[in-house]
Parts: sequence; C-alpha cells; structure tokens
Amino acid sequence: MAEKDVANLTAQEAEAELARLSAIIAEANTAYHTEDAPDLSDADYDALKRRNAAIERRFPDLKRDDSPSEQVGASVAEGFQKVAHSQRMMSLGNAFSEDDVTEFARSVRKFLGLEETSALAFTAEPKIDGLSLALRYEGGVLVQAATRGDGAVGENVTANARTIDDIPDRISGAPDILEVRGEVYMSHEDFAALNLRQAELGAKTFANPRNAAAGSLRQLDSAITRGRPLRFFAYGWGTLSSPLADTQFDALKRLHDLGFSTNPLTALCQDIDAMLEHYQHIEQRRATLGYDIDGVVYKVDDLDLQRRLGYRSTTPRWAIAHKFPAELAWTRLENIEIQVGRTGALSPVARLKPVTVGGVVVSNATLHNEDYIAGRDANGAEIRGGKDIRIGDWVQIYRAGDVIPKVADVDLEERPASAKPYDFPTACPECGSDAPREAGDAVRRCSGGLICPAQAVEKLKHFVSRAAFDIEGLGAKQVEQFYRDGWIAQPADIFTLRERYGTGLQQLKNREGWGEKSANNLFDAIEEKREIPMARLIFALGIRHVGESGANLLAGHYGTWADFRDAMAQAEPKNDAWQHLVGIDGVGDVMAHSLATAFRPGAERDAIDRLVAHLDVQPAVRRGTIDSPVAGKTVVFTGTLERMTRAEAKARAESLGAKVAGSVSAKTDILVAGPGAGSKAAKAAELGIETLDEDGWLALIDTA
Ligand code: IVH
Repeated sequence: MAEKDVANLTAQEAEAELARLSAIIAEANTAYHTEDAPDLSDADYDALKRRNAAIERRFPDLKRDDSPSEQVGASVAEGFQKVAHSQRMMSLGNAFSEDDVTEFARSVRKFLGLEETSALAFTAEPKIDGLSLALRYEGGVLVQAATRGDGAVGENVTANARTIDDIPDRISGAPDILEVRGEVYMSHEDFAALNLRQAELGAKTFANPRNAAAGSLRQLDSAITRGRPLRFFAYGWGTLSSPLADTQFDALKRLHDLGFSTNPLTALCQDIDAMLEHYQHIEQRRATLGYDIDGVVYKVDDLDLQRRLGYRSTTPRWAIAHKFPAELAWTRLENIEIQVGRTGALSPVARLKPVTVGGVVVSNATLHNEDYIAGRDANGAEIRGGKDIRIGDWVQIYRAGDVIPKVADVDLEERPASAKPYDFPTACPECGSDAPREAGDAVRRCSGGLICPAQAVEKLKHFVSRAAFDIEGLGAKQVEQFYRDGWIAQPADIFTLRERYGTGLQQLKNREGWGEKSANNLFDAIEEKREIPMARLIFALGIRHVGESGANLLAGHYGTWADFRDAMAQAEPKNDAWQHLVGIDGVGDVMAHSLATAFRPGAERDAIDRLVAHLDVQPAVRRGTIDSPVAGKTVVFTGTLERMTRAEAKARAESLGAKVAGSVSAKTDILVAGPGAGSKAAKAAELGIETLDEDGWLALIDTA
C-alpha cells in the first residue's frame, strides 16, 4: 500500500500507522543489533522515523508508550553489558597555570630523585573533549570496545565502535593482545548537522559535541550510532602482550603506523619552556581545529619512568592536564534560590538571564555560600574587594571546562538603586527546620535530617546515581515522582516497590511516562541490583565525607558488610574501633566522625539496616589479599635509599598491599635499612624484626 500523506490521515489510520512504524523500526533495530546486517538503508530508516515523528506531532494523544522517537538520545531500557577493565581507566590531575606545570615537573623529578639539571622529556598533545574508549585487539582483530564507566567497569559498546571509521576492525603487525585507549569525539560541523537533523525529526538536540558523542556512542541500537559521524584519536594503551616502544612518543607513532588516528599536534618537549610554548601553539589553533579541546596533556616520555612513577588513587603521577583558562561573560542576576543538598547544606544558586559562555548557554551558576555572597572568604577576609552580590546585579560568569559555572564578579556601576544586600536564610526553605552554621563550617545546614523532604530526595537521587546503585530506568526524575507520590521515602522502599505496586501494575501504567514494559523493566532492574558490591553500597549511603574512594578503602579494609557495620557501630572517639578506623590510610577524624554518627542507634542506622535486609552485599577483596609477598605487612624505611626515592619506595610498597609506617614498633614486619640507618635499625634488632637492605627489599618485591 502506498504511504498516505500524514496530513490526510484520519485518527484511526494514524493509530494503525504508528503501530506499524513502531513494529518495523523495532525489527530493523534488532536486525541491525544482533546480526550486524541491517535490512534497511540508513536513509530508509531515517525516513520511517521522520514519518513517525510527523504523525506524532499531528496526533500527540496517539503517541505510543514504545514510541521510536523516545528511543533516540540517551541510552534505552535494558542497558549494555558490563565490562571489567583489565587495567583501571584513570583520570588526570589538572594544572591551571604555568606555575602548576613547573610544580608538576618538579614533583616528577623529586619522586624519581632526578637532579634539576638532568634531562627529562615530556610529550604534549591536545586534551580532546570527548569520552574515552578502550579497544581490545586479539590477534589483530577488534574483539571489544568499552567505555570508561567508573574506571573499573565500563559498558560494552563493541557494535557501536565498529561503526566508527577511525577505528580499524583489523590491524597487522601489532602485539597479539593490544588494548588501545583514546577519545571518541564529534567535529563541530558534524555536531551542527546532527542537531539540525534531530530537530527535523522532532527528537532531542544536544547541548554540545561532547554530549552528542556520548549520546551517540551509548546507543543500544548501533544503526543509530552508524548514522552519527563519530571520530577517534588514540592517546594511550592498557593491557599489552608486548611493549609498543620505549617512549610515549614512539608508542604513539607505532599506533599511528598500525592505522589509528593520533593527534597531529603531539610534540616531544625537552624542557618546561618547550612544553609551555607548545601549549600556546595549541591554544592559538584551538578555534580552527574543528573539534573541542579543553587543554593540553603532558606525559613523561620515558615509559620506564612512567612505570616507576605509577598512580595515585585515581590519577597517574606521570601525566597532567594543563587546562585552558576559563571563559567569561556578563549577565543579569535575576534571583537567588537556595537548594538543599543530601547532607542538608543550603547552597545558593544564581538564576541568570541566559547568556552564552564559551559556546554553552548558562542560566544557573553557583554562589558557593553565605560568605561568598557577602564578599568574604572563610577567614573573614575580603574577596572581590569586599563587593557583595545582590539580586538585580550585573554579574560576571566564569566557566572552566565541565565544572559548574560560578558568579565571579559584580559591576557596581550597573547596580540598580533598589538592590538590597541578600539576606541568607537561617531556616531550611524546604522544611522550616533551623539551619545553623557550625564553627569552622562555611555552609549552613538544615537540621531536619530525614524529616526534610529535600534531604530525603537528594539522598535517594544519590542512592540511585551512576557510581552508586545505578538502577536502569530509575533516575533523578523518577525518584522525584515516586517520592512526591509517597511510593518511596527511603532507599529500602525501592526494593519493595514490586511487592507493593507490581500486582497493581495498572497504577504505574496509568502514570505519565510509564507503560507495562517500562514498569516491568524497572522492577527487573531493581531485582538485579539486590546483589551489590560492598563499596558501592557504602558510597550509596551518602554519608558525609565518604566519597567513592573512601568507600573503596572501607570496603577493602573491612571486607564484609557485617564486620564493617559492627566496627562502625562500636566506633566512638578514641576507643579501639575508632583507632582502628583512623588507622586506615586515607581515613581521618572527620570521616570517622561522620561514620560513627551515621551508625549510632537512631533513625539513620535503622534506615540502613532496613535497606541491607533486602540486599545481598558482595564482600570486597580485602586489601591484604593482594597477591604479593608484602601484602598486609607493615614496612618501615630508614637510612639512605640509593636506587629510588623514599616517595617511590613508599608508593611501590603500598601498591603491593603493604602499609608504610614512619617508626618502628612491635607491629612492624619489615625494616628496610639503607646506609646511615640509626636508632630505627637498633630498635628493630632489639624487637627481632626482619631487616633488609635496599637490594634485599627489591629482590623480595620483584618476585611480585
Ligand atoms: S591520557 C592515565 N591523553 O581526559 C590517564 N587523556 O581527564 C590517561 N583525554 O579520561 C589519560 N585527551 O578521556 C589522555 N590526549 C589525551 C586525552 C585524554 C582527552 C581524556 C581522557 C581521560 C580524561 C582525563
């Protein structure tokens, strides 16, 4: 049957046509996805989607629950398979000034014990503003592509990566196992064309090329990815069966020779002057590159030195990102609103007359806290020359990279006569509870705890967020809806949703945005997360000062939920459980206080216990179980080390699971004594502690 013009369809015909289109498109998606062999051309596929969107525009009431136009953009229902990275994907530390870069080079030298005058070369290359991707080749064949995810576990996007022209399916002359890492991005030109096309289809448009690249790569339907012109620059590698080269520069050249795009603005710099010069060179070209970059990455060139420098918890010691300066713009401050966060902090947010700052439209910006608005810093000293910020002011907006924009300055000449100093609230605007400011704290906090709806909702949003429970289909928006309607008040309620509402599915189905399929998907996604790694659970609880790395430390230290919970419940300042807790490298008094408070008998602990009763918490690998001869041992270094600096020795020992202490005690397992060792060596001898010289220590750990 010839297709009838959308304008001539009756409602009945439109309904049937929407059903037909939805079925054909779904079929095309499956054919493409599972067989990698589309039965429709990209153009035909687009035409179907366009027709579907046009009918929906004419008959909005007939839009189906499973409408194909809802499937463009962010990732869809079931999600991707997870992939554990064989080596963590790290992020980079930042430098914002030439001084920071000098300091970086100095710290590298110091760590390695290199003289100021000895040679130390760095590569310098653009920092691409896209998203990172790891490509695994086995025997020269692309077998897997994974996004960064949380660094340890990413998403399997192999089918999508295969659609990217810059990514070869096969390579020859490479190590048998080669994991290439790099950045996926979209050019300015392709971004503009994509947004135009999206608008025509009545689909969502993207805020910037990076979001467009991420949205396009994270498509369950690789037919969609194929229609999006993504590109890829290789900048590094992960697991290798044999080394690519001896230096970063040569390794990149090798990747280039294997068929990968590497950035042509990569340079080898012999000293800091050359690095800074290349930074300026790149910055001058920034506007004409045709893709977004947000800085320059410097890397130690010598790969053996890179290996010795190693990593801090999330960043390498051998590389740094030198960020471009922030972008500025002026606009009117229309209002100041107070947002209440999950820990009760009252955060002032500037509502602005929308303004474009470096290509992005900004209508909200942070005002930090009460003092910042008043023109003071935390110590009461003047900032901005003491100028306060008032509603109605003409303000300067500052935006650096993907950091939240802030109000940086105010122009007093433009201040309206009616503008009054801002009165910061002393009560929570959401629940009315007192919002006192504790000594030494820059922010006011709502004292309402769980009775404060804002805190409760924010805690729930944090609970379901990506690095926490990451429940597919249960995002910030859904959490707000469920909270508002009284379906979920605290995390435990999520796990009884099906029990309470699953049989009366009708209720969920009747709500805006929910169909039978999406409701069932949600219940299944929740089921899946009953089994949860311990570190994620600890992070998800949203305890103040306990971030992702803190949660990892705690899980790695206590191993099981039961041990952790008991220890926290017992911890009171200075008792044994407390001393044990603050004895963990990376846990201080502040974090310990927060933990002890959360696990004191009371509503918060009850809520945690109620939640855990629904879960199957996966024990963590105890730190001491790293497979090395020094794992779990306490080591002390003394005297002069000749083959490495103290910092290097300490970092290496810690990476092998040892704890490095500053003084010898009965708890010490090994003393490493170099020439000139004094009282520590004597004490160790007295206590009968194993003592090694530097060579003996290296021999011991080199077997690791
Ligand atoms: S090197 C061990 N080089 O920046 C860390 N990263 O902020 C290796 N990025 O996650 C990263 N361009 O996605 C490196 N030339 C470049 C880069 C680059 C962009 C991204 C990368 C990384 C993020 C860190």
